[in-house]
Amino acid sequence: MPSASTSRRLRVLQPALRSAAPFMKWVGGKGKLLGQLQELMPTGKLRYAEPFLGGGAMYYSLWNQDRLASALLCDLSPDVVAVTTVLRDHPEELLLALDTHDREYMRRDEVERAAYFYLVRERHPTDHAMTDIERAARMLFLNRTCFNGLWRENSRGRFNSPHGRYPAPNILNEVKLRAAHEALREAEVRRSDFRALPELVARRGIDFVYLDPPYHPVSLSSSFNAYSGGQFPASAQAELAEVCRELDRMGVRWLLSNSDCSFIRDLYRDFDIQVVRAPRAVNCKADKRGDVDEVAVRNYAATGRRLLSVARG
Ligand SMILES: C[S@@+](CC[C@H](N)C(=O)[O-])C[C@H]1O[C@@H](n2cnc3c(N)ncnc32)[C@H](O)[C@@H]1O
Repeated sequence: MPSASTSRRLRVLQPALRSAAPFMKWVGGKGKLLGQLQELMPTGKLRYAEPFLGGGAMYYSLWNQDRLASALLCDLSPDVVAVTTVLRDHPEELLLALDTHDREYMRRDEVERAAYFYLVRERHPTDHAMTDIERAARMLFLNRTCFNGLWRENSRGRFNSPHGRYPAPNILNEVKLRAAHEALREAEVRRSDFRALPELVARRGIDFVYLDPPYHPVSLSSSFNAYSGGQFPASAQAELAEVCRELDRMGVRWLLSNSDCSFIRDLYRDFDIQVVRAPRAVNCKADKRGDVDEVAVRNYAATGRRLLSVARG
């Protein structure tokens, strides 16, 4: 049970208005690209969908700017969906569960902290019949304390990043969690595969979709798409391009991020392709950090600030 002082502490830390941001570190997080991507988006209020939510950087930024008339947020990862739904529906319970992890971890010395990390890591949600609140707290705890904040899963969908040994990992980031909770209050959150998108979009009258799939690797050593057991091969990229063509036929505008390579350029050759420059933060080898090009593909012409040539016939 949390003590009275814990409850008091959890009640007083309130975020500033519309100050939401991702509350998890996430590979491929869009934080550093938001300005460039938003320049390419339609103006006005959006009935919005994001089928590859991850840490949700784009969603929170658009919500902060009051750009959204409605929002549908999806991901295939049960952990992403659990943590996002629990934060929306049960923020106090989540904060308390996380506070328990925080206390247990911080009171230990370095060796014992590692042991606690691996104990939590080995307790897989489906083996231990965890509640969604426990599952969400586990994910946030592991995300803050693992090496590089890299959420990586093996082929059986088991989180397998090692311990990170940070002296002050800020496990209970209450202000950030409360700010994200505010942003999520009216969002619909679903566990869904991207292949279900056209039907979901049609039923809800969605008029704009931002797609940020696991990137197609530009080289064998840059395969950072191991989110859900690493299952996003070239055939999935091709199916996604077909889903985008279907949305286009439905008259739904979309913007898609991916790596800049000939395979992706070829898949989307009928649409407008812009290059954006992404600072790449997560890499095991420090000398491989550095800027890389990504593409932003869209099926509509620009309105407003920048006029772009649209490559479609
Ligand atoms: C590049 S990340 C998205 C990052 C996000 N834009 C951000 O700012 O953090 C890709 C996401 O796609 C999800 N994903 C992988 N395969 C999927 C599928 N078949 N359908 C839907 N989501 C999938 C992963 O779980 C991951 O969260």
